[in-house]
Amino acid sequence: MAKEVIIEEMPDLKKASRRNRRPTEFVLDEMVIPTQLKLLANGKKFFIRTYGCQANVLDSQNLEGILLEIGYVSCDDPLEADIVILNTCAIRENAEDKVFGEIGSLKQLKNKNKDSLICICGCMSQQPHIVEKIRKTYPQVDIIFGTHNINHLPQLIQKALETNSRIIEVYSKEGEVIEHIPCYRQDRFKAFVNIMFGCDKFCTYCIVPYTRGKQRSRKMEDILFECKNLVEEGYQEITLIGQNVNAYAKDLDLGYDFATLLVEVAKLGIPRLRFTTSHPWDFTEGMFKAMATYKNIMPAIHLPLQSGSDDVLRRMGRRYTSKEYMALVDKLREIVPNVAITTDIIVGFPNETDQDFEDTLNVVRYVKYDSAFTFIYSPRVGTPGANMKDEVSMETKHERFNRLVDTLAVDIKAKADAYIGKIVPVLVEGCSKKNTTRLTGYTDTLKLVNFVGNPEHVGKIVKVKINEAHTYSLIGEEVDE
Ligand code: SAH
Ligand code: SF4
Ligand code: F3S
Repeated sequence: MAKEVIIEEMPDLKKASRRNRRPTEFVLDEMVIPTQLKLLANGKKFFIRTYGCQANVLDSQNLEGILLEIGYVSCDDPLEADIVILNTCAIRENAEDKVFGEIGSLKQLKNKNKDSLICICGCMSQQPHIVEKIRKTYPQVDIIFGTHNINHLPQLIQKALETNSRIIEVYSKEGEVIEHIPCYRQDRFKAFVNIMFGCDKFCTYCIVPYTRGKQRSRKMEDILFECKNLVEEGYQEITLIGQNVNAYAKDLDLGYDFATLLVEVAKLGIPRLRFTTSHPWDFTEGMFKAMATYKNIMPAIHLPLQSGSDDVLRRMGRRYTSKEYMALVDKLREIVPNVAITTDIIVGFPNETDQDFEDTLNVVRYVKYDSAFTFIYSPRVGTPGANMKDEVSMETKHERFNRLVDTLAVDIKAKADAYIGKIVPVLVEGCSKKNTTRLTGYTDTLKLVNFVGNPEHVGKIVKVKINEAHTYSLIGEEVDE
């Protein structure tokens, strides 16, 4: 018999797009785990699959922290688990398709273990049409929750187990800042730290402001406290995370900004400090100066271009022109000469003309990126872009996409070639299981390096001489200081 569905709250895109001027509420989560649940969960296994960006990676670290606190233990195979969580991404249709494929295959888990729980959370859950589809088409899904109520996981699990029903609880509020949610980081050397949640930019193609709520910055003292602990635990690298990190604290009005935060975290003495993502609109010279002054702030910046056409940029709501973008790149290179610049570009925004696309290629040739993520535009339900007329064929979009990738590759390879013969610092992340002298890691400029070295140096920053360059990786050998 089909399980009963308990709807605590359904997502609502209209509500999600509202922005009030009320200050953000800061909530200290107490996370009291009911004893009953601890007994039910004791030693049972969980599996989490994470899709999407660093925001989801961090949410999954919180989910893992909570599950461990309840008493579950982690496992590597979803079909062996008692509880499976898919932490989903809604940024493009292909991201969603992957999740539906996985939900389909999890039917096997239900056949094997009918008491298992399948949970869907993350950005897909924040979309009403997706929740409806899951509810109607995928009876194997037991719990749907969203990006605003990760801390309710213990209560949701307990309710699903006790009532043997399906539960939907997705809030579409602007959001709070919730501190003290348990967090488990598997990585011992590199850590992401949230500095803000949500986004207020509402680029016309993008679903994130709806799925993540309004921009809410964490207080600087809370961020510094977390970073200080990471430094004391021996972490080598911290990446400050947010959708628009350089807009940090604009919503707080406490007399500090992103440049202040960068400097304060750098002063804690973490060997490597990174941040992502920056929006070209919110830059201050103070940020660049901080990068130039503190050698532990890595010379690498992700600066999404999206398009090089001023008309497309305007229709995307990006708030800068191609000229302004290129001037920003010039300024950045003047102040931080060795900086590596990477980007995101969307091809085939509605009614992008041949000339619009040529304009994008021209900016690409001007900037000479170190690396880039390229996407074909994917209409997202509820965003303004989804209502724009589009006469451009998919074939044309694919042709443009391929030309863009080829154009980018020319400079990416040239940049990689320039490393040949150089000795560069690499944070060693791991070694190959088959041959432990084959190590892998990243340079300060975020280039992937595969090299021969000492496996005891995993987790340390070593010097590597580069002997060979591919477009997306460098090959080298460890050398003495
Ligand atoms: N906050 C970041 C990036 C967020 S999403 C920023 O503002 O740059 C990551 C990337 O996905 C975006 O930079 C954009 O290039 C791409 N993207 C977002 N929505 C998309 C859509 N509807 N179709 C295709 N690509 C999209
Ligand atoms: Fe999306 Fe634009 Fe916000 Fe980035 S800045 S998350 S692209 S709306
Ligand atoms: Fe995807 Fe949500 Fe991140 S839509 S890219 S997981 S904010």
